[in-house]
Amino acid sequence: MASERIYLSPPHVGPLERELLLDAFDSNWLAPLGPHVDGFEAELAAAAGVGHAATLSSGTAALHLALLLLGVGRGDEVWTSSFTFVATANAISYVGAVPVFIDSDSATWNLDPDLLAEELRAAAAKGKLPKAVLVVDLYGQCADYDRILSVCDEFEIPVIEDAAEALGATYRGRPAGGLARFGVFSFNGNKIITTSGGGALVANDETAIARARFLSSQARENVAHYEHEESGFNYRLSNLLAAVGRGQLRQLSDRVAARRRIFEQYRQGFLDKSGIAMMPEADYGVSNRWLTVINVDEQIFGASAGDIRLTLATEEIEARPVWKPMHLQPVFSEARAIGGKVSEGLFATGLCLPSGSALTENAVARVIQAVLSAAVQRGGHR
Ligand SMILES: Cc1ncc(COP(=O)(O)O)c(C=O)c1O
Repeated sequence: MASERIYLSPPHVGPLERELLLDAFDSNWLAPLGPHVDGFEAELAAAAGVGHAATLSSGTAALHLALLLLGVGRGDEVWTSSFTFVATANAISYVGAVPVFIDSDSATWNLDPDLLAEELRAAAAKGKLPKAVLVVDLYGQCADYDRILSVCDEFEIPVIEDAAEALGATYRGRPAGGLARFGVFSFNGNKIITTSGGGALVANDETAIARARFLSSQARENVAHYEHEESGFNYRLSNLLAAVGRGQLRQLSDRVAARRRIFEQYRQGFLDKSGIAMMPEADYGVSNRWLTVINVDEQIFGASAGDIRLTLATEEIEARPVWKPMHLQPVFSEARAIGGKVSEGLFATGLCLPSGSALTENAVARVIQAVLSAAVQRGGHR
């Protein structure tokens, strides 16, 4: 019998989400906005440990609005993590700003705080500081905000936290998303919780979040007729999707626990196998382990990350390369990069393994066996 296909990070929904979705449906609140949007916003703000949240059509929309709210515009520089999904950098392009890509710290894979500090000091000396710094919490692990904020505060540069992958993670006991001026979440289908598509912008600044809601509803003025003094966007999340999100959010801690358990099973499975290293977890926080990522030393293991991915594909198991750093992307070939060797190395050797919170122990065991067999297979071909 053919084995069932194992996906990288499929949605994990159940009766609670179904019930809430039908409640929204039956109430006829199908239009954007409604009671589930209000409820989801309040619950998300609480989950991020901040005062306010605006739910939106995507995490990318949230990034776009965060940059606009900080007044980032044409020609401004925004410094960001090179090792990320393209949405982070695209949002910088949307506002006409210029991205500058900063390399990762090999201890966390996130934006390197020392490199940032060094370069900000050099930029300050030249009078050419960025307008904002956009930091990514990669694969569910928070960046080192104490160190990042201390240098950014010194130069009064606002920081945005791209926590699209990190809902449910913590940094020194504080929740991801609430660690900088603005936090961004994504509820895209592959994330730790999903609304099929959606996102949120969170902050303590009530006025800013109110303005995000305004901009996300076509910047319609608060009068009876359709009055517009500036350009806005159609970025709101629908009440139906917010209902799904509320059901998902209630199970967030279980989802984090499940993904961490899956990571641990992989770790145990590869313990005796040299040449495979797990993505490190910094001692300052707890990752949500959105994706389990391994780093493969081809010489020692006997197969490369790419070989493993192809072997898994033949066994109906989906694995993916890690993000290709932004400074290597053709679309950003003109952009300045600060360092780059660490993320380039990770790109060459990293692999994301199936990590969905509904994965069974048997399924993870199947993936482990398939990974280990990649070395054997390749060895056999020599
Ligand atoms: C780091 C990061 N930022 C932003 C996004 C964009 O979120 P969305 O797909 O909801 O627009 C994603 C994922 O999709 C992401 O992984």
